[in-house]
Amino acid sequence: MQLKDLAATTVKDNDIDVEAWEALEKSIVYYQGRPVGTVAAFDNSTEALNYDQVFVRDFVSSALIFLMKGRTDIVRNFLEETLKLQPKERELDAYKPARGLMPASFKVVSIDGKEYLDADFGEHAIARVTPVDSCLWWIILLRAYVVATKDFCFAYQPEFQTGIKLIVELCLANRFDMYPTLLVPDGACMIDRRMGIYGHPLEIQALFYASLRAARELLVCEYNENIVAAIDNRLPLLCAHIRQHYWIDINRLNAIYRFKGEEYGKAAVNLFNIYSDSLPYYELDKWLPINGGYLAGNVGPSQLDTRFFSLGNLMAIISELATEEQSQAIMNLVDQRWDNLVGDMPMKICFPALEGEEYRIVTGCDPKNIPWSYHNAGSWPVLLWMLAAAAVKTNRVDLAKKAIAVAAPRLKNDEWVEYYDGKKGRLIGKQARKYQTWTIAGFLLAKELIENPQHLPLVSFEELPQELVSRACEFEIGSVVDTARY
Ligand code: GLC
Repeated sequence: MQLKDLAATTVKDNDIDVEAWEALEKSIVYYQGRPVGTVAAFDNSTEALNYDQVFVRDFVSSALIFLMKGRTDIVRNFLEETLKLQPKERELDAYKPARGLMPASFKVVSIDGKEYLDADFGEHAIARVTPVDSCLWWIILLRAYVVATKDFCFAYQPEFQTGIKLIVELCLANRFDMYPTLLVPDGACMIDRRMGIYGHPLEIQALFYASLRAARELLVCEYNENIVAAIDNRLPLLCAHIRQHYWIDINRLNAIYRFKGEEYGKAAVNLFNIYSDSLPYYELDKWLPINGGYLAGNVGPSQLDTRFFSLGNLMAIISELATEEQSQAIMNLVDQRWDNLVGDMPMKICFPALEGEEYRIVTGCDPKNIPWSYHNAGSWPVLLWMLAAAAVKTNRVDLAKKAIAVAAPRLKNDEWVEYYDGKKGRLIGKQARKYQTWTIAGFLLAKELIENPQHLPLVSFEELPQELVSRACEFEIGSVVDTARY
């Protein structure tokens, strides 16, 4: 069935959906005659750069709406082809992508009449960043495919088992730090430019958690005992670490405000040696509603990034990395700080913007990331679907409906732009593409999730099994508990 016919199966209140489906159809990339993904943007009015490529993270939005509409072939092809692009051997050349990594994007090239896929692991992309999130999204998408099709055997094929295993091995490899979170360089995710999110950014941790949950469901235990044991060890520690150390609400802020610094030894309360003066207390004191809270952007040695990052917080709700209480508090915050976080276009990638000297030092004077633009507190319509999924998960559907109503007329009029600028998201992004595929797919997906909430399990998880949680209590946070091999 063609996508425009699929549009007819969607409940429509106007012609926006038809136009969105047609635009989505146009974005499909074919490889050797088979659909394998969607381009990042189909915008003829400006230079394509790499926006004519299939980005792994961008395709997830398209893939989910395809799965919900029963068009599973393109997702299956995508998973098969990207798996072939994953390096399988140990790489001796340190400039080459590591074993297990997935590319940021790929394109179809034709040489002597034969088509090939050319992958970019960040070495060609403008900001030259490592796409750590690609391999995490890949597992999450594989699990969504299996949930949608019930075709578990697809993931049980040996090459898929190896693919999952290599990703998990890469993520669980011993590193220099001693936290259960994943240590990554700056710009390793949707924010793929320097933005001061190196270390343990929330977005990566939420995707890491969801991908470990997905891997745990998909790996055949019989042949993967060590890796499954390592996942079982890591999951509850990661979950407890995020819930405890990333959480900010007014009570927690009070506790941190009165933290002592420079504590020596095991009895330290201020485990990360956070210096109170590094936090914008008086802003947060004013901003945090009494019943609201959120997960911090980053936690590390003497570092607590108090910026609100939407993708990480929403994915934490969807994957149940956040507790039920925390999830409700995050949605309360979105509700009560609507002007800041949603404004005139759902929704801010992060809040607030880095300004002045901080912007210059942290971004390296990035002209695209000027305050209230692009990654630096710009508004990204793709986040609408995650807001909708989080709203369904927390029974706060009204919030998502309100956001969709705000977005719908503007998205069509503005030709599905990539991002918006300004404090309230009223300006079309300075360098935003038109017909950005994940803007289109994100909108359709948000509506679909609200109309058919039974699709939520494609991306959501239940609370961790109790036996794993109680096992985690036996270990101190920070202690090394993975199996010897990982
Ligand atoms: C920008 C975004 C990135 C996205 C890419 C393609 O670089 O920051 O997240 O994947 O565009 O749309």
